[in-house]
Amino acid sequence: MEQYVIKGGIPLVGEVEIAGAKNAALPIISAAIMTDEVVTLENLPDVNDINVLLEAIEGIGARVDRIDRHTVKINGSTIQDCSVEYECIKKIRASYYLLGALLGKYNNAEVPLPGGCNIGSRPIDQHLKGFRAIGAQVSIEHGTIIAKCDHMVGAHIFMDIVSVGATINIMMAASRAQGRTIIENAAKEPHVVDVANFLNSMGADIKGAGTDVIRIKGVSSFHGCNYMIVPDMIEAGTYMMAAAATKGDVIIKNVIPKHLEAITAKLLEIGCEVEESDDSVRVVAAKRLNRTHVKTQPYPGFPTDMQPQMSVVLALAAGTSIVTESIFENRFKYVDELTRMGANIKVEGNTAIIDGVPNFTGARISSPDLRAGAALVIAGLEADGFTVIDDIVYIQRGYEDFEGKLRGLGAEIERVTSEREIDKFELRIG
Ligand code: EPZ
Repeated sequence: MEQYVIKGGIPLVGEVEIAGAKNAALPIISAAIMTDEVVTLENLPDVNDINVLLEAIEGIGARVDRIDRHTVKINGSTIQDCSVEYECIKKIRASYYLLGALLGKYNNAEVPLPGGCNIGSRPIDQHLKGFRAIGAQVSIEHGTIIAKCDHMVGAHIFMDIVSVGATINIMMAASRAQGRTIIENAAKEPHVVDVANFLNSMGADIKGAGTDVIRIKGVSSFHGCNYMIVPDMIEAGTYMMAAAATKGDVIIKNVIPKHLEAITAKLLEIGCEVEESDDSVRVVAAKRLNRTHVKTQPYPGFPTDMQPQMSVVLALAAGTSIVTESIFENRFKYVDELTRMGANIKVEGNTAIIDGVPNFTGARISSPDLRAGAALVIAGLEADGFTVIDDIVYIQRGYEDFEGKLRGLGAEIERVTSEREIDKFELRIG
């Protein structure tokens, strides 16, 4: 089992390049199989979730040619099967995007229901409600979602809750339905907009993505295209928080600063300097930061995917902060680990009350999920002494070369697989 070993206490300084957005790339790869022509995707992040999904679409017959680390060509004309194997996709929840894609293209999809998740219950009722509204019969049999219809017809759909996944899934299927679909109370995240832009590049007619009403005029076929995935706002935000926690000075490149506004606003509020340019942000934290309150919200609010990283920064800030998690109920699992590093945090329901401490001390801890894992790495980078983090497989699902990029900023961090390697690292760094 791979682990990270970190010697903390070094302010991060330098420049880091951000990869393409995982949460845009996952639906875009799924949607790419909706045409029989070749689709070239650039700026794909090289992370586990993406690689698993590429294998899953190969598993149903699509052709996937890797051009380089960040570019693939996908050809969906060779798909023979609308039934996705459980083994292929049990590791990633975003497999549900294959439902919208296969239903849209073939009027038929069978995808195993994604299993439980570390960040809380993840119902997909809104996805299914949308598919039913455009004419699909949907049933769950033996753990598999089966969606089929003779033909789909556009509908007016009001989402009961704001859901990124449901908005994207319905957008994909409805873009091949007959007539118009309107999605009200749609999610507005940049990755929703990116998927709409991609579908439009393949010939779809989608307007309003990025607002809460999306209008889709169904088309009968899609064509191939070249598309570049949008930069990952959560990866960028994670390095912004790493700079803040370590009192560093980091330029985060290849970002869209507009997407980072909620994160930037909180960092400014607690005393960081944040300089924006066209496609980069620089975060400088020269002194101890101050407390604030944070509540996670759908975009453009503060993202739930940044809550653990922000909480680590606040756990080091002067004063008492309150962090409210309003999207997923189980996203404070890192708190017990952080407490072992000296943090003073009390969780009550969906709220964490954080009394800032001047610094953490290194400990042996374990990563409970992707963003929490990244947050614990940030804690380790700040802490006095050595931190060892287990279960980094979660982190590798969503961060490309996390340790390499951090080393580029001066961090002492290594990926190891044995106690011997940990001892060697500790001896070498001293
Ligand atoms: C996406 O998950 C992201 N995943 C998550 O990223 C992210 O945390 C989340 O959006 C919120 O921004 C991907 O893009 C692959 P939702 P998604 O549907 O689409 C409830 C990461 O770390 N809900 O917007 O599954 C749901 O329980 C991750 O990269 C329903 O009740 O999230 C939640 O409370 C993890 N019924 C809320 O809506 C539904 O049918 C928002 O979830 C769907 C969702």
